[in-house]
Amino acid sequence: MSFIIAIDGPAASGKGTLARKLAAHYGLPHLDTGLLYRATACALLDEGLPLDDVDAAVEAARGLSLTDFDETRLRARDMGEAASVVAAMPAVRAALVDMQRAFAARPEGAVLDGRDIGTVICPAARVKIFVTASPETRAQRRALELAGRGEEVDYNAILDDVRKRDARDSERSAAPLKAAADAVTLDSSELDRDQVFAVALEIAERARNA
Ligand code: CDP
Repeated sequence: MSFIIAIDGPAASGKGTLARKLAAHYGLPHLDTGLLYRATACALLDEGLPLDDVDAAVEAARGLSLTDFDETRLRARDMGEAASVVAAMPAVRAALVDMQRAFAARPEGAVLDGRDIGTVICPAARVKIFVTASPETRAQRRALELAGRGEEVDYNAILDDVRKRDARDSERSAAPLKAAADAVTLDSSELDRDQVFAVALEIAERARNA
């Protein structure tokens, strides 16, 4: 049976870092599904189109190639915000489902991180972890990450972004951000990266040996 690990959680909760570490540990491919929504939004902005143009967003989503992302651009602060606008459109989400499920269907398994992996994309995943942390901790982590990439950072503006994105992602009707009923919630507010990985590894090993 393939080994699928689903990592979900709110903005800047550390799910990407955790997913990358688990993928490296188990030798599995990793898909950061947030990049799909970021790339969809980016395509609209590049063409000078408004973010609420559903038809153009669906076309952009359908045209994405998983291996062709300009991550530096996509991970910029404004792109996260834009991504959450297009991610609220049911038609955009529908256009991206098959691509994500095809990635997860590799015989050996895969690690996917996002908002709806355990609930919608891979409801049968063997491991489901919902990573969370307080908004303040997440804003601090995002500020450090963006500063590390040379972006100018304003902590209060980032905290504001995090709160706005939490609200938009949780309150939308299409695949809202929430833990799957059978996910293990991992609060990383008081943990560093290595500690988060150690807890997650225990959860994954328990599921693998079950
Ligand atoms: O890294 P961060 O948590 O800030 O964001 P991300 O995972 O790259 O996701 C950017 C935005 O895409 C989120 O705020 C969600 O609105 C959306 N998203 C989603 O709806 N479903 C996913 N599976 C992944 C991302």
